[in-house]
Amino acid sequence: MDIFEAIQNRHSVRSYLDTPIPEDTAETLRACIADVNRESGLHFALFTQECTGFAGKLKNVRNYIAFAGGGENLEERIGYYGAKLMLEAQMLGLNSCWVAMSFHKGAVTKRMPLREGEKVVNALALGYGQTQGTSHRTKPMEKLCRCDGPMPDWFRKGMETVMLAPTAINQQQFLFTLADGRVSARAKLGPCSQIDLGIVKYYFELGSGRKVFSPEKNF
Ligand SMILES: Cc1cc2nc3c(=O)[nH]c(=O)nc-3n(C[C@H](O)[C@H](O)[C@H](O)COP(=O)(O)O)c2cc1C
Repeated sequence: MDIFEAIQNRHSVRSYLDTPIPEDTAETLRACIADVNRESGLHFALFTQECTGFAGKLKNVRNYIAFAGGGENLEERIGYYGAKLMLEAQMLGLNSCWVAMSFHKGAVTKRMPLREGEKVVNALALGYGQTQGTSHRTKPMEKLCRCDGPMPDWFRKGMETVMLAPTAINQQQFLFTLADGRVSARAKLGPCSQIDLGIVKYYFELGSGRKVFSPEKNF
């Protein structure tokens, strides 16, 4: 599965089978996480075969990536780099669900050797799903972006990809703008909308084929 198939196939999956993640798959994910941590300065960690406190609609979650870190624009950076790992997991045949509300942060925090100034922000539940999930409803593209002229093909492809991205409560509270040939994106008001902004920036770059943002320099 390539990354564009992963984008198409990924949907939030909240109920998991008992099937454990094979050790070689876990190792590949750990290596991706180590790369992301090195590049971003964030502190992500994979936990497998644990029965931690996922709640709400999340059932039988045994594996997850804890998204932790510190510094400026923490939420947006977690969104950007977390999206990268979420799609890596999908390419490895795993299902996932990004989780902000439905888990006990305290329980996860206790397992993390956090450094001064770091905190656990979100988690990505992982495993083999009971289903593959379903496509979310999306706002029309014209509500998600503005262009100061005719929309170039690369920008449209970026937006089509963005529309497939997960956002908290599927709120899609962001706006991309193309003005004077430059792309910008901002979050509107909403729960976790800064995390969503990081996620959709990553998706936009994949879809448009252009490197637009600088997460390593806080965007
Ligand atoms: C930042 C963020 C937080 C989320 N938190 C939760 C959560 O606490 N519980 C949950 O069941 N789903 C959660 N989700 C999943 C969203 O509800 C889901 O991504 C959205 O409805 C779109 O559906 P899709 O992921 O299937 O495309 C979260 C997603 C994001 C991006």
